[in-house]
Amino acid sequence: MVNKSIEVLADKSAIVERATILVLEKIQTALQERGQCAIALAGGSTPKPLYEAIAAKSLPWEKIHIFWGDERYVSHDHPDSNCNMARQAWLNRVDFPPGNIHPMPTGANDPSADADRHDGEIREFFGVKAGEFPPFDIILLGMGDDGHTASLFPHTEVLQVRDRLIAVGNKSGQPRLTFTIPLINRGRCVIFLAAGANKQNALANVLGDSADAREYPSRFIQPEGELWWFVDEMAAKTLEANHRSLIIDN
Ligand code: 6PG
Repeated sequence: MVNKSIEVLADKSAIVERATILVLEKIQTALQERGQCAIALAGGSTPKPLYEAIAAKSLPWEKIHIFWGDERYVSHDHPDSNCNMARQAWLNRVDFPPGNIHPMPTGANDPSADADRHDGEIREFFGVKAGEFPPFDIILLGMGDDGHTASLFPHTEVLQVRDRLIAVGNKSGQPRLTFTIPLINRGRCVIFLAAGANKQNALANVLGDSADAREYPSRFIQPEGELWWFVDEMAAKTLEANHRSLIIDN
């Protein structure tokens, strides 16, 4: 049984406020228990203000390691790069040791080769062998209007991958590197952020009882650790009452 919490908050800024509290709490837990924290960041637009909020905090950055749950297959200085967004919003604003930032490689002009390379980089960081899936302390995720998360898009081959950490996703023919479903599901704390009316249909299907996960891939995310959904009123409008465990007014 997944340890799942769904919190419906007033708006996107309330989501950011709530998510900041939880992320800081989980960072502290990781530092107390393991002396370091490994976080996988989400791309897209929703998490940007969260990254800006975390950048304003005073944390032991040398004990925090940054990864990405997915990346568009572009250079890291490209405007579409998830790495670029996080660096502008957070990482360049605080004193991270360069070795603590682990972007998904996109420079081989061969997405499969770069996926294999990053798979090895993560295995080396955690000291895990083939067939083992390391537990990230925090995995941040967004959800697309179509119910995708990371670069796990509906009815794509990457949804079947169960034997590696990193694989090549496909968005309308564009390659992307992505965490696989088993890697995300090893997460100790997986946090979805979803805001806006355009997420209503996907959210109702992802959190509902009967939709096909191949159609709404965020349904595949059933982590061993904690699963948190922070959504705003607009996104949650069509959620049946039984899926609203909590309403938070900000
Ligand atoms: C990406 C993300 C993707 C994103 C969703 C939601 O690379 O774009 O990883 O999965 O989280 O598409 O994006 P928004 O937050 O912009 O709605």
